[in-house]
Amino acid sequence: KAVKRLDYRAPDFTATDIELEFNLSDDYTIVKSTAHYIRLTEDKKAPLCLDGEDLELHSVFVDGLVCKYTEEKGQLIIEDVPDEFDVSIENVIAPALNTTLMGLYKSCGCFCTQCEPQGFRRITYFLDRPDVLAKYKVTIIGPESGCGVLLSNGNLVESGEKQGRRYCTWVDPFPKPSYLFALVAGSFDLVSDTFKTKSGREVSLQLYVDRGAYERGLWAMECIKQSMKWDEDRFNLEYDLDNFKVVAVDFFNQGAMENKSLNIFNSIYVLVDPKSATDTNFFNVQSVIGHEYFHNYTGDRVTLRDWFQLSLKESLTVFRDQEFSSDVASRALTRLHAVDVIRSAQFAEDASPMAHPVRPEEVMEMNNFYTVTIYDKGAEVIRMLHTIIGEDNFKKGLALYLDRYDGKAVTVDDFLSAMSEASAVDLTQFTRWYSQAGTPVVTAKWAYDANEKKLTLDLEQKTPPTLSQKEKDPVVIPIRTSFLTGDGKEVTPPELSANGIIMFTKDKESFTFTCDEEVLPVLFKDFSAPVKLDAHYSDDDYKLMLEYCEDPFIRKNSSEFLINNYVKDHLESADNLPVPASIIEAFSHVLSDKNGDPLLTCQVLNIPPLSVLTELCHKIDFDALHTIRSFIEKEIAKALFADFSNLYAKTKATGSYVYNIKEMSKRSLNHLALKMMIVKLKDDKDEDKAADLVRDHYKKSDNMTAKLCALTLAVHYDLLCKEELLKEFEDKWSGDPLVFDNFFRVQATAPSEDTVKIVRKLMKHPCFDKTNPNRVRALVGAMALSNPVALNAKDGSGYALLSEVVRDLDKVNPQVAARILTPLLSFKRFDEARAELARNELLRIKSEKDLSNGVFEKIEAALNS
Ligand code: ARG
Ligand code: ZN
Repeated sequence: KAVKRLDYRAPDFTATDIELEFNLSDDYTIVKSTAHYIRLTEDKKAPLCLDGEDLELHSVFVDGLVCKYTEEKGQLIIEDVPDEFDVSIENVIAPALNTTLMGLYKSCGCFCTQCEPQGFRRITYFLDRPDVLAKYKVTIIGPESGCGVLLSNGNLVESGEKQGRRYCTWVDPFPKPSYLFALVAGSFDLVSDTFKTKSGREVSLQLYVDRGAYERGLWAMECIKQSMKWDEDRFNLEYDLDNFKVVAVDFFNQGAMENKSLNIFNSIYVLVDPKSATDTNFFNVQSVIGHEYFHNYTGDRVTLRDWFQLSLKESLTVFRDQEFSSDVASRALTRLHAVDVIRSAQFAEDASPMAHPVRPEEVMEMNNFYTVTIYDKGAEVIRMLHTIIGEDNFKKGLALYLDRYDGKAVTVDDFLSAMSEASAVDLTQFTRWYSQAGTPVVTAKWAYDANEKKLTLDLEQKTPPTLSQKEKDPVVIPIRTSFLTGDGKEVTPPELSANGIIMFTKDKESFTFTCDEEVLPVLFKDFSAPVKLDAHYSDDDYKLMLEYCEDPFIRKNSSEFLINNYVKDHLESADNLPVPASIIEAFSHVLSDKNGDPLLTCQVLNIPPLSVLTELCHKIDFDALHTIRSFIEKEIAKALFADFSNLYAKTKATGSYVYNIKEMSKRSLNHLALKMMIVKLKDDKDEDKAADLVRDHYKKSDNMTAKLCALTLAVHYDLLCKEELLKEFEDKWSGDPLVFDNFFRVQATAPSEDTVKIVRKLMKHPCFDKTNPNRVRALVGAMALSNPVALNAKDGSGYALLSEVVRDLDKVNPQVAARILTPLLSFKRFDEARAELARNELLRIKSEKDLSNGVFEKIEAALNS
């Protein structure tokens, strides 16, 4: 059933225009469509084959006449059609019964759509592929009641009443593929505003939110305006329609969707206010609003030829949203977050049975490929391109790409050819980043020759084989480099290029640098390539870089690797651990730096989570990793208790909550300090004091960030105030599902094997709802994806629970089922006992009747690995 990239064939027909009419009702929505088709193939006998899924077909007419057609395997085949003709179809769908949340469905009383990648075929029969671009005219006739707002893409051209029902007609002047179609109908609160574009046009902005959530929409509206301004300033891209609409819905499989001029969002990425949302929520709203808005050019105006090219729009748009967050929020924070995603989730994916290149070769269920590889590794690839050709050439290349391919459906190769042409840089070898899966490992060795005054740097690269690619060729690796003297001064040897980049393109290569004294090469500043670096740095080298390097990534990385070194050295002897003196010394140094930037201090004092530490071993020893990590945390907390207490006092909140990066950093530092104090107090068995501190922090704070910090500490460290705070939170927020998800998440991420039982119990909580993806992610997803201790409980109860949920959920929402299944796929890296337990659960899932393609594809990959 898998489709291969190289089997792409241009469509036999295209559609130029489509008119849709929706007569909305819960379980009997009548969809009428008339589309104009043109034959593209020379073959006059070729029938028109339309895609469709779960449709009740009522009638088909070609140019108004009855015709010969057959319905089979997700297709409607119409024979004997002329070269140009209209097809009119009437079919019925049942939005209220559609729990897959693909196509047209109902979310808390309102109708909405999700058509990417292949949801449009669940609305009506059509050429549901991204290389068929048509103009849409859409009439929505509302249901009997409750839908004051009727929206689709483009401009409103007509509205009124027909037989007691409201209707609206929308026309989108831009041809688009079906995956960008959207419809929304419901009753909402409206936040409206305007934006004046650089050429002076006024765009009206509408943000539709849940009734009563007006205030919670204000930040998102700010972010829309920031995004529009930023894209003009940085890339000279001006919005192209007179209105831009964003709708927040409560049931949504992913983050958000860039439908032309009608973005639909998971409400978690829209609705925020200080009382109910955290700093991270605010940050994410800005970034996701930016992301979807930036798709207007990179995705909508220039779209994809086929789904194997998904990264073409996603990686470029993630790169753009990261640059947006860097420019309007914080470059350091944005970069460090992005690196975390790569080094925890993406490296793990590369090492898993589902490893795939940024441009995949073979796909069974496209929904399985909305991955950290496509999005985030892809964005790193774009970033390397930016590094290699430079900002000016990058801007020129992007402008050329958007101009040349405007209104077209294109490929990664088209993009690279525009970039190459604009920059006059040959990108032939660079394309390997798109075709090879797996994480390259760069080994670096160096030696200083005091007589010659030369430092020789020997580099070697290797990409480990993945399932479908045994042999790998060397890739282009830009290494942002500087050199540090023993007393922390930066020196620039004449051989280093002006931009500080070493271009490493071969399997093996040596580089020589002239330096008057012995220096330490600082490699991959700003994480200039998504690779693993294997270098013989000592603890002292890391301490030197931590103290003297300006680069935020190098600083955070140095502290992380100090910890990694300790972990690796003691994996075999986790029951007898020495005090981690080097780490404590480094942390102490950071804490005593009065001029340190709170944001960086907090990042540097972070102990990597288990999900990152697991990447240190091929076979994962969960028990040893967990023991060592907890031990390090405890020893640091004990040794530096006074420092953390001072820090906690010094960073105490003054005045009421405001969201900005400075305040956010201060809060993060304050929370880190509190956590370390709790670790120490727990170790002292000073239960009362620990509970008092945390209870106090909870009660005295005025914002969700601080409350959740306290609640998390109470639950994760099992403090005496745990039940009290949980109860208080539950009473206050159980009527607010979005906020209440924190109640689930906090408990599902408690690092204990008992968590499995608690998750099982919480699944019966009246607020839990397996048909809502946010609820599932907050509870079962959190345990599966962010709690290795519980998921990998020795008795297999974590695997059993996950398997039970996946089997059940696959029948309700297969996309979410396939997503939360992911951690089980790497079972071959577990110890023998756990591997056996996990494997049995995979087999059990596989033996279910009517398993979805998505879950099937992943299990097959895992079992065959
Ligand atoms: N294109 C959307 C985004 O920006 C994601 C849509 C994902 N949809 C899905 N069914 N997997 O990023
Ligand atoms: Zn996107």
